Amino acid sequence: MPNPNLRTISKRCILFLLIQLLIYNVLVQNNEIRTAEEGDTVILPCSVDPTAAGGDVFWRNEEEHQVVVDIIMGKEDFNDQSPKYRGRVKTFTTEIAEGNFSILLSNVTLSDSGIYTCYAPKPVQRVELSVTEKKIRPGNGDVRSSASSMFLLGFSLLYSLAFS
Ligand SMILES: *[C@@H]1O[C@H](CO)[C@@H](O)[C@H](O)[C@H]1NC(C)=O
Ligand SMILES: *[C@@H]1O[C@H](CO)[C@@H](O)[C@H](O)[C@H]1NC(C)=O
Repeated sequence: MPNPNLRTISKRCILFLLIQLLIYNVLVQNNEIRTAEEGDTVILPCSVDPTAAGGDVFWRNEEEHQVVVDIIMGKEDFNDQSPKYRGRVKTFTTEIAEGNFSILLSNVTLSDSGIYTCYAPKPVQRVELSVTEKKIRPGNGDVRSSASSMFLLGFSLLYSLAFS
């Protein structure tokens, strides 16, 4: 005979875990992480029910309270844009009508790292962008140095053949 008290406790436990899982999923759904290297182009995603948004979406950099881009009545508006983002932000104009307010940020720099929020007008999407230094591609250097050592080897071989 299982202890009825124990059964209630485990039921509560499971319910508690399910609620935690639900809260976790809701939070994570609206929190995206994007990583990039200096000079890359990244998409900062934001999907809004087009009827609910009324066509106005505001992209902001959280820490510095900078205007990344405004989308007014479905059109990009750069009037208040921070100089930091000038010429580097594009919207997907044909997708806006479908509620796709994602933006394209090009030529990212280390200082672009941070939290970006898409407001419509309440915050609907938070994107954490992390830009890292451009990695030196391991391939190129190695190929070049092995090519030059092959050249040296061949050269010394020819040299020794010619002059011995
Ligand atoms: C929004 O549009 C961009 C560019 O076409 C695309 O990459 C992205 O997947 C779209 N997002 C959604 C949710 O459809
Ligand atoms: C990318 O940014 C760097 C540093 O801000 C700048 O020197 C370079 O001209 C930019 N490149 C393009 C293609 O905009």
